[in-house]
Amino acid sequence: MLRKIYLYGDPVLETDCDPVTDEAFGTPELIQLVEDMFETMDDSQGVGLAAPQIGETKRLFVVDVSAGEDRSQRRVLINPEIVDTSGEQFGEEGCLSIPGFREKVRRPFRVTAKARDVEGNEHELEGDNLLARAILHENDHLNGVLFLQHLSALKRSLIQRKIQKLRKKGEWD
Ligand code: NI
Repeated sequence: MLRKIYLYGDPVLETDCDPVTDEAFGTPELIQLVEDMFETMDDSQGVGLAAPQIGETKRLFVVDVSAGEDRSQRRVLINPEIVDTSGEQFGEEGCLSIPGFREKVRRPFRVTAKARDVEGNEHELEGDNLLARAILHENDHLNGVLFLQHLSALKRSLIQRKIQKLRKKGEWD
């Protein structure tokens, strides 16, 4: 099922999310939630979507660096932990909760993450370049952090003012 994507300004995006409980793994509810997240992400041609973006304050996210072109690129990370990062990249980043705005963000080039899958099995995932960027961006969401927080205060307030204007015109909902 296609889910509503919450936009910047909604408090759900600034929530420190709760871990998925042991009892939830393998349940139809969790499997459905993950399916909904892929469907919603693909519909917007995104490369990542975190649960709080659809109003679920749980520690899980999906990524697909092919933006829906190649199903083998689908990854789901539940209760993820970033175990290692290295290198650096500086590139454009956007967010489905902040549509229309893209800015350059500095991130590590490579990341190693540990996470569970829908059945609860623990796995380790390594990624570099865009995959690393997507994993780190989505992991931030689980801590209530948006990419705007990685920008300079000046750039951030400029974007916030533009969004404020869109909101007043009723174009931010
Ligand atoms: Ni995002």
